[in-house]
Amino acid sequence: MTAPARLAVLISGGGSNLEALMRACEDPAYGAEVVLVVADRDGCGGMDLAEQRGIPTATIKVNDYAERADWDHALATELQGANPDLVVSAGFLKIMGPQVLQAFPGKIINTHNSLLPSFPGIHGPVDALNYGVKIAGATLFLVDEGMDTGQILAQCTVPVLEDDTEDTLLERIKVAERAQLVETVGIMMRSGWRVEGRRAFLNSED
Ligand code: GRF
Repeated sequence: MTAPARLAVLISGGGSNLEALMRACEDPAYGAEVVLVVADRDGCGGMDLAEQRGIPTATIKVNDYAERADWDHALATELQGANPDLVVSAGFLKIMGPQVLQAFPGKIINTHNSLLPSFPGIHGPVDALNYGVKIAGATLFLVDEGMDTGQILAQCTVPVLEDDTEDTLLERIKVAERAQLVETVGIMMRSGWRVEGRRAFLNSED
């Protein structure tokens, strides 16, 4: 049996996506393990979840560095030390800099809680609600230098209900988003993926 693929996960909040990934990794058949969790701020619930499992963690805050490039360098160095096969941005609320992007070309993914290219940025669900769309969802994509602009690996949809609030829609999206993240990362790590121009494809598991 081959060694599990190595995942480094970046978070800024509660870490429910991270938790879903760590749970999936408990099954050897999943084919991956979380080897590092990095947060960009204090107080992220996900860090406790990782530490309880004995997974190494690091907090790397922009404000601790004189220049944004120094933060970028520190993040790249920390990630390189973990030798990940994939870097998973799971609710990480910072744009990654060129040093991180160059260290892991084509190997950084981000999950976003809207159907891109609609509603990029950090207010996707409420922007979708206020726009009046009838279908919302989440997008998993390869990170490039833009904001929420990389090739799309997977998308999932949920209905927007008449009595939805920001919270109820966000929670419905997050349930679907977590399932999509776990399923897609597993396929990527077991079977691989490929990119053709703007399009990205998961390799068949057959
Ligand atoms: C996700 O919905 C993600 O799309 C957004 O922030 C949320 C993170 O949730 N950027 P969690 O910290 O994984 O619970």
